[in-house]
Parts: sequence; structure tokens; C-alpha cells
Amino acid sequence: LSKSLKVLISGASGFLGSSLSSYLVARGHSLSSLVREGNSVPENTKGIFWNPHGGKVSLHQLNGLDAIIHLAGANISHGRWNSKKKKVIFLSRVRDTWLLTHVLTRLKYPPALFFSASAVGYYGNRGDQLLTEDSSPPSKEARGFLSELCVQWERATEVLETCPTRVVRGRFGVVLSERGGIISQLLPIFKLGCGAVLGKGTQWMSWIALEDFLRAVEFTLHCQELRGAVNFTSPYPSTQREFTQTLAQAVHRFSFLSLPSWFLRLAYGEKSSELLLISQRVIPQKLLNTGFIFSQDTLLKAFRHLK
Ligand SMILES: NC(=O)c1ccc[n+]([C@@H]2O[C@H](COP(=O)([O-])OP(=O)(O)OC[C@H]3O[C@@H](n4cnc5c(N)ncnc54)[C@H](OP(=O)(O)O)[C@@H]3O)[C@@H](O)[C@H]2O)c1
Repeated sequence: LSKSLKVLISGASGFLGSSLSSYLVARGHSLSSLVREGNSVPENTKGIFWNPHGGKVSLHQLNGLDAIIHLAGANISHGRWNSKKKKVIFLSRVRDTWLLTHVLTRLKYPPALFFSASAVGYYGNRGDQLLTEDSSPPSKEARGFLSELCVQWERATEVLETCPTRVVRGRFGVVLSERGGIISQLLPIFKLGCGAVLGKGTQWMSWIALEDFLRAVEFTLHCQELRGAVNFTSPYPSTQREFTQTLAQAVHRFSFLSLPSWFLRLAYGEKSSELLLISQRVIPQKLLNTGFIFSQDTLLKAFRHLK
């Protein structure tokens, strides 16, 4: 059995945070959660309150942790992206991460690991290009709101490079599980036989099954070699068409619909280009190099349990 660690999670009430808290508790780790004042403390965890908006974090409660896993941030897929929503998305990640990391630099006993969420959105719109952690950031033409956001979000962790703390920036692909995220939104539509190819369907989607995501995060807690940007994606990204067809097949339905790009842009605005039509073919080079073994590396395996 691996060593039990003292871990603090922010965003523990969310899709990934709640799944990860339960997983890590079941694996024998001791969990606490960093909760915004006024919100309730998720089950299984001890709450530490902060008020990022007011710039308040309690220093002494953060001393001596093995790891902080920072997942908090306003939800990206809900609602239309107007300037107010984009500001909330941006501040809840860049400002709050900045605040937290700067507080950590003042600790007598800083955490051994600061693991911050980021996303494959970092890479921008890259067509068929194979992308690893070493790929260059997107050119001006490939950039968009999400890549700018991820660049700033990751930059907010850089101050910790001056501390003994190991810093990991997890560039997550779309996490697949019927327990939440994109699959829980798509399943009812696909079960009605209304699953559709989006745009041309040739754009690449980088995804990871929730089970592998949870295992890979725990692997990162222990693997000292992993630092800096780390892609959390299956080694086999799929095209959007392949994704739609495999999901439809998994729930025993046909998928013969397609939604053209112009329609998606009209219906969802900027969000459609950034989340639905964007092409990112990402490879988890660092996880593979350090010996992590994916158990659900293909969509067929990831969708095997769907009913
Ligand atoms: N799910 C995916 O497929 C995916 C893919 C790529 C990247 N990510 C990133 O991974 C992180 C976790 O994703 P998730 O799917 O678990 O997200 P989620 O379900 O939306 O949960 C995010 C959590 O962040 C906190 N939060 C919400 N609004 C906030 C605000 N305005 N200011 C500060 N904190 C706020 C909440 O936790 P508390 O109430 O406990 O504070 C919430 O439960 C996010 O940063 C997301 O961008 C997720």
C-alpha cells in the first residue's frame, strides 16, 4: 500500500473534486477541503474556509500538508459566455490561484506538492498537430479565450517555483463519466437517438475516463518526477465524429444527425468555437514516460459501463 498523505482539495463540491475526494479517502488518504466562506463543507472532508474575493486565507491551517489539489473555478460549460461570465471564469481561476500560491510562499512548512487544474484548452485550436507538454503555446491565430485563460492560470502558479514545493499543472482533457460533466449532459440526448456530429466532425477531442483521471492524480501525488505541465488525457484522442458514433453505439442507438458549425455558433456563440469545434490532439507524454498505465485508453473501454 502507498503512503497515506494529508491532502487539501479546493473545488471539492464539483464533479472532479467530489469524485477525487471519495477516491482518495477510499485509498486511505486524509482529506480536507478549501471551501469558500458561506458554502457548506463536502462530506468526507474537514473544511478550511477562505474568501478569495476578499483576499482572505488562513495561513496556519495550510502548514504542513503533503499536497494541495486546486480545482476550484466557476463552471465553464454552464450559461452563455457574456463579458460578465467570462470575468467570473477568469477571476475565479487566475486571481484565486494567484492569491493561494502567494500565501503558500509565506508558510513555514509549505506543501510538498501544489497540483493546479488547467486544461488542454491551453493549446488553442491546433488541427491535426500532435501536442505534448513540450509543444509550443498557440500562435496568435490559434489562440482564444480558453487558451489565454489557461496561460494566465498556469502563470499564477509560477511564484511557487521559488519554494521547495513541487508544482504540477494538470492540463485536463474532457473527463468522461456518467457521474457528471459532458457525458451526463449528453447521455439523455443520445438515448433519444438525437446524438449529433458537431460541425465537420474532423476536429480532435482529447478526453480521459474518470477512473484513469483519479488514478493518474494519485499517481502524480507519489511520482516525484512529474512536475510542471502534465497532460491528463488518454493516449488515443478521437475525432468528434468517432466520439459521437462510439457513444451512440454504446447506448444502442444510431447517430445520423449532424449540426453545422454556423448553427452551433448561432446557438452557443463563442463557446461553440472554444468547446465544441476546437481541435486538440493531445498526448499524455509525461504520464506515459513515467510509467502510468491507462486502463480505459479507448472510447470503447471508457463507454463500456454506460447503460
Ligand atoms: N470536468 C472536466 O472535464 C474538466 C476538463 C478540463 C478542465 N477542468 C477544470 O477542472 C476543474 C474542476 O472541474 P469540475 O468539472 O469539477 O468543475 P465544477 O463541477 O464546475 O466544480 C468546480 C468547483 O469550483 C468551485 N467554484 C464554483 N464557482 C466558483 C467561483 N465563482 N469561484 C471560485 N470557486 C468556484 C466550486 O467548489 P466549492 O463550492 O467547493 O468552492 C465548484 O464545485 C475546473 O477548474 C475545470 O475548469 C475540468
